[in-house]
Parts: sequence; structure tokens; C-alpha cells
Amino acid sequence: MIALVTGSSRGLGKDVALAFGKRGHQVIVHYRGNKTEAEAVASMINESMALKADAGYPNEANRLVNEIIKKWGRIDVLVNNAGITKESLLIKTSEEAFDEIVNTNLKGPFNFTRAVGRHMMKQKSGHIINISSYAGVKGREGLSAYSASKAGLIGLTKTAAREFSRYNIMVNAVLPGYMLTDMGMEATDKAKESALKDSLVNEYSNPGNVAEFICYLAGTTGITGQVFNLDGRIL
Ligand SMILES: NC(=O)c1ccc[n+]([C@@H]2O[C@H](COP(=O)([O-])OP(=O)(O)OC[C@H]3O[C@@H](n4cnc5c(N)ncnc54)[C@H](OP(=O)(O)O)[C@@H]3O)[C@@H](O)[C@H]2O)c1
Repeated sequence: MIALVTGSSRGLGKDVALAFGKRGHQVIVHYRGNKTEAEAVASMINESMALKADAGYPNEANRLVNEIIKKWGRIDVLVNNAGITKESLLIKTSEEAFDEIVNTNLKGPFNFTRAVGRHMMKQKSGHIINISSYAGVKGREGLSAYSASKAGLIGLTKTAAREFSRYNIMVNAVLPGYMLTDMGMEATDKAKESALKDSLVNEYSNPGNVAEFICYLAGTTGITGQVFNLDGRIL
């Protein structure tokens, strides 16, 4: 199985790449800026390569996918994980900040799904797993662009699932809980405290557990168009 995990130089994506690697799969470790970290992740996997692309640009996603096809001939799993956030009240959010977040978190998965989808259609198989968020369903103060992008990603997931099911391509979304990755650590103390307070198990989400779930999902058949909430907070 060949898996492309976007944004796997660190955080959740790194754990997902390593989990696929542990199962003996070939993994493409994708990154935007952190080449050294991405190469370090790739070096921990038996068959892997680290490739750079800005998810927000369709030509970069196409180039990266063509490179994989040229070298390995197919892609079985795409995990659209790369994402960014920046806290600010809606009224204070600049157009540039809104565009950057939506371009990365929503247009990025669109770019990669379109680029990879063509090949999966020819293969008549594939799994696309989009990493959305609790914020996309519930909304979060200070995260208007992020919440909008993650809500949009759920719509993209359901539509892609409908369009691709006839090609035996499964498309699902996963909502991790609050994880103390770089992204999670950047949030305000108030946001961290309230994530813990709202969790029924009074725990942050463990990226390793989320990664195991994603690997399991990628090995299933007949499950598509679903949104899996792995958060301890009730939606
Ligand atoms: N952390 C949480 O609590 C939480 C909760 C729910 C959902 N999520 C979602 O889970 C996913 C992973 O989050 P994380 O916490 O692991 O984040 P993270 O630690 O900040 O890592 C983000 C990853 O995305 C990559 N990336 C960022 N912008 C990119 C771009 N324009 N093009 C390509 N790659 C880009 C980064 O690459 P570089 O290292 O090269 O910059 C990095 O690999 C995100 O989609 C996030 O929204 C996170």
C-alpha cells in the first residue's frame, strides 16, 4: 500500500506516517517548510520519501503527485492532514489571514483530492481521509477561518464520497480531539483549559491513537461518506 500523508513532518501527520510505515506500507512524507524534520520522519520508515509542496497551490499538488506516480506508479491512500490556524476574533481577522487558512485547510485537500483522484479512478480503488475538527462542527470563538475551513472540508468529504464511490474510492473525515501538537500548544491557555474541561474523560487526544484509527480506516471496505468523531467532547 502506498500512502501520501500531507503535513507529516510533525504533529499528527508524523504519527500517521509512522503508523503506516510500521505496517510495512510505502509512505510519502509531505511538508511545506520543515525539510529536516520531514527527512527525519522518512528515515524512520523502511520505504519512504520526503516531498515538498505548498498544499494551497494546485500546480504544486499536481507536481508532487506526478512525482509519486512516476516513481511508485500508484497511490492507495491520501490523508489530507496539513493544516494551520491562527486565533483572532472574526472582526479582527484580516482578509489575508482568512485566505491563507482556507487555502491551506480547504483548498489544499481539494487540490490533492483532484490530483490523486484521477489516478485512484484508473486504479478503481483508494481511500481518502480528511482531517477535520470539532471546530468545524461546533464553531469556536477566535477561529472563524479555521472553523469555516474545517466545516467546508466535511462538505467536500461527503461530495467526494458520492462522486467517487462508483470507482471504489472511499472518502471519510476524521475529527481528532484536542492534541498538544505544535498547533495545539500555540492556542491560548484558556482554549487549552476549556478543551480539557469539556472532555468527558478529562484528557487531551493522543495523536498516536488517532493515527492508529486512520490506518485501520484505510484498511476497511465499504465505509464512505462518514465523519468519525474521535474527540472526548460531545458534538
Ligand atoms: N492539534 C489539534 O488539537 C487538532 C485538533 C483537531 C484537528 N486538527 C487538525 O489536524 C491536522 C494536523 O494538525 P497538527 O496539530 O498536527 O498540526 P502541526 O503540528 O502544526 O503540523 C502541521 C503540518 O502541516 C504542514 N503544513 C502547514 N501548512 C502547509 C501548507 N501550506 N502546505 C503544506 N503543508 C503544510 C506542516 O508542514 P511544515 O512542518 O513543513 O510546516 C506540518 O507538517 C490539521 O489539519 C489540524 O487542523 C488538529
